[in-house]
Amino acid sequence: MIGASFYVVAASTIRLVSDSLFEDTVRRRMTSVSEMAVTLGGQMQDAAADVFYPQLVQAARSTGGRLLVVDENGKVQADTFDERCGVRLALSELHSVLRGEADADYGFHQQHGEGVMQAASIFDAITKRDREQVWVGCFVSSLQPASGGALVLIASVQDEVDSIISIRDRMLLVFAAALAAVLALASLISRIITRPVAELSAGIERMSKGDYRHRVHVPGKGEMAQLAGAFNQMSEQVGNLEEARNQFVSNASHELKTPLATIKILVESMMYEDGMDPELRREFLGDINKEIDRLSSVVGDLLTLVHIDSHKLKLRRERMIFADTVRETAARLTPLAKKRGQEIAVTIGDECEMFADPGKLAQVCYNIIENAIKYTPDGGRITVRLRRTGRDAVLEIADTGVGIPEEDLPHVFDRFYRVDKARSRDTGGTGLGLSIVQQIIRLHAGSVTVQSERGKGTTFIVQLPVK
Ligand SMILES: Nc1ncnc2c1ncn2[C@@H]1O[C@H](COP(=O)(O)OP(=O)(O)OP(=O)(O)O)[C@@H](O)[C@H]1O
Ligand SMILES: [Mg+2]
Repeated sequence: MIGASFYVVAASTIRLVSDSLFEDTVRRRMTSVSEMAVTLGGQMQDAAADVFYPQLVQAARSTGGRLLVVDENGKVQADTFDERCGVRLALSELHSVLRGEADADYGFHQQHGEGVMQAASIFDAITKRDREQVWVGCFVSSLQPASGGALVLIASVQDEVDSIISIRDRMLLVFAAALAAVLALASLISRIITRPVAELSAGIERMSKGDYRHRVHVPGKGEMAQLAGAFNQMSEQVGNLEEARNQFVSNASHELKTPLATIKILVESMMYEDGMDPELRREFLGDINKEIDRLSSVVGDLLTLVHIDSHKLKLRRERMIFADTVRETAARLTPLAKKRGQEIAVTIGDECEMFADPGKLAQVCYNIIENAIKYTPDGGRITVRLRRTGRDAVLEIADTGVGIPEEDLPHVFDRFYRVDKARSRDTGGTGLGLSIVQQIIRLHAGSVTVQSERGKGTTFIVQLPVK
């Protein structure tokens, strides 16, 4: 488009310049030839040929051209170059004057010049311009008083043609330079635009092949930079998710492997020991039974989490009294606490009637109170308090146990997270209880927080909206 518009501008400029240049030349030449036709016409009648000829030469010199006097048949009578006398001139503009169609006329012709070679430019080669050819103008006027003949002035117009050619050449140069600049700029701009796109698509390709660590770098603050930022964020999240999934699978496998290995050892020793003491055999079977219980509890917890993750776990909400659930769970765990000389004190400030899933909330209470029992030394005290603040039911479960170090507090709700791995193994923990608690509370649109002081005790606070 730029090229086309430049071409139109250049063509019309050249046309304008050449029109004005030639109009001027033609007007000047035609005036002088008409004037000379009057003067010389008069002299031709009066003077003898030998007097007239020098006058013709004189007049020709003053115009810088060549003058020819032609009779009514187009035959040359006099020529200031003394070459064409007696020759019939075949010029259309001459014949229109001789036929009386016009008083004066002109035309342009290309003639072989005097072999003056000018410096050839590159454009001469392109435009196939022959520098030996020159343009001449023929300006014809009928001789006055009308004798039937005509005066022909032949003058070079090569200067005008040259200046037009030089304007055209310069315009061509500017056009070429402008075109090159526009092309260079266009390719630069397109590269600036396409480079981030290329980088982004390369990033997407790498991500689709599993490389989540690759980051796309697009400088600036434009849309592409924002897109790249969003892509990087997404890539990081997908990477984290992938890592979490791998971690989950490896943790789960590990949790299942340990009880299975124990069972295998126990079964093998029973298989290869003939005549085993029945008492020992019963003990072994009891251990195997315990490990199987542990396996099924781990598998149960895993299934619950997987269900929650895949959004398959639906709450079975019903009208319920939360206080009843708390009391029942505490009662269910009291024998366990008793075994360790612990006391569970339940205080109910409000019955907290609500619309929730009683089974799931019982699991929440069970997991937290069971933890309190597990992580509190013998003879400790567990306080369970339910009250209502505004539109929330608040359940606080406090113990006088070992507590949780501050650096571990943010992680206790993570899957498989155990503060003291060795001790947890003794107590049989998998590190899934609290993450299940958190998911169930979230499904109920509530929150669970923990406060703890090492060696003094831990308090879990569950907040649930009462609908
Ligand atoms: N009341 C508490 N006092 C001290 N530490 C606690 C308490 N409750 C939880 N913890 C710590 O938080 C960790 C995570 O608890 P969580 O209930 O998720 O797992 P767990 O009890 O080890 O195993 P399980 O899956 O059988 O519940 C525990 O291993 C324990 O270190
Ligand atoms: Mg637990």
